[in-house]
Amino acid sequence: MITLGIEGTAHTLGVGIVDSDHNVLANELDMFRPKNGGLHPREAANHHVDVVSRIMQQAFDVSGLKPKDIDVISFSMGPGLGPCLRVAATAARAFSCTMGIPIVGVNHCVAHVEIGRALCGCDDPALLYASGGNTQVIAFAEGRYRIFGETQDIGIGNMLDKLGRDLGMGFYAGPTFEKLAKEGKEYHELPYSVKGMDVAFSGLMTAALALQRKGVPLEDIALSVQETAYAMLTEVTERAMAHIGKDEVLLGGGVAQNMRLREMVREMAEARGAEMYCPDRRFCMDNGAMIAWLGSEMYESGVRMDIADTEINQRFRTDEVEVTWRS
Ligand code: ATP
Ligand code: FE2
Repeated sequence: MITLGIEGTAHTLGVGIVDSDHNVLANELDMFRPKNGGLHPREAANHHVDVVSRIMQQAFDVSGLKPKDIDVISFSMGPGLGPCLRVAATAARAFSCTMGIPIVGVNHCVAHVEIGRALCGCDDPALLYASGGNTQVIAFAEGRYRIFGETQDIGIGNMLDKLGRDLGMGFYAGPTFEKLAKEGKEYHELPYSVKGMDVAFSGLMTAALALQRKGVPLEDIALSVQETAYAMLTEVTERAMAHIGKDEVLLGGGVAQNMRLREMVREMAEARGAEMYCPDRRFCMDNGAMIAWLGSEMYESGVRMDIADTEINQRFRTDEVEVTWRS
């Protein structure tokens, strides 16, 4: 069975194709990068409209497949930005109706977990899902992926992007923080905000801007922000692992591309005698392959949707999904 998946929750329009044997046959994407300021949902959606046909064609070219070879189509139903979600959903519905094939809408956050599990070969991990809009510690319990801890204000990636913009780094600042932090020499203390298994970042943002006003070099600010924020994430992940008794930890989401975060989580896991897993960067960031992958698993486990069931859900929570494909 071959599944094509369309991702379109935020800045990335991605198209992936997978088969049922864990093979990714294509994973093409195009990311919208605003020239200045943050991500405007309407502008990102217009970008997705412009590129969706080309990216689908690219996925067919890379895989050597034709539209008639596709058995199931899936798309990101939420959570995300309404206008962006509607583009992916509309493209998927059109393909489903034209080709007469089943359609499955999937939860974007659960897709991040499932692609990691499939590609890393871990069985029952606690997942640290660290992306732009989401920061959650998730684990499977009693038929659903449950959120054990999460951010109380903004997602880690949005924090990095917003702070980066205020510090003059330009949009999509996560990788810039990583590069600058390597040159950092001195750590400056920043608010470390952990409450149980939850985290919050607004105090850290304000304090980091205050460091800039005091003339602290950008490299040191980047180092201090990374060390503090990633230590917070590592601590809540460890607490969740201890609480629910998991000895595997999986990283996912765009911020999981960060080598310092990976290093901290790996050290924590090793100290607990646990195993850390992290998929290749291309599968950490938003991508179509993970949407195709989850669509394929859901379809094979018996999930069926009519076009009328494919309405987008901007606030689609991870724990709303009934997990039918795991025992
Ligand atoms: P979601 O919809 O799941 O919340 P998203 O739309 O933000 O995700 P992702 O591709 O999962 O998209 O993540 C993008 C985020 O990852 C951005 O905020 C970006 O700054 C951050 N990021 C990318 N690379 C790095 C890196 N090397 N270090 C830290 N952050 C990074
Ligand atoms: Fe994502």
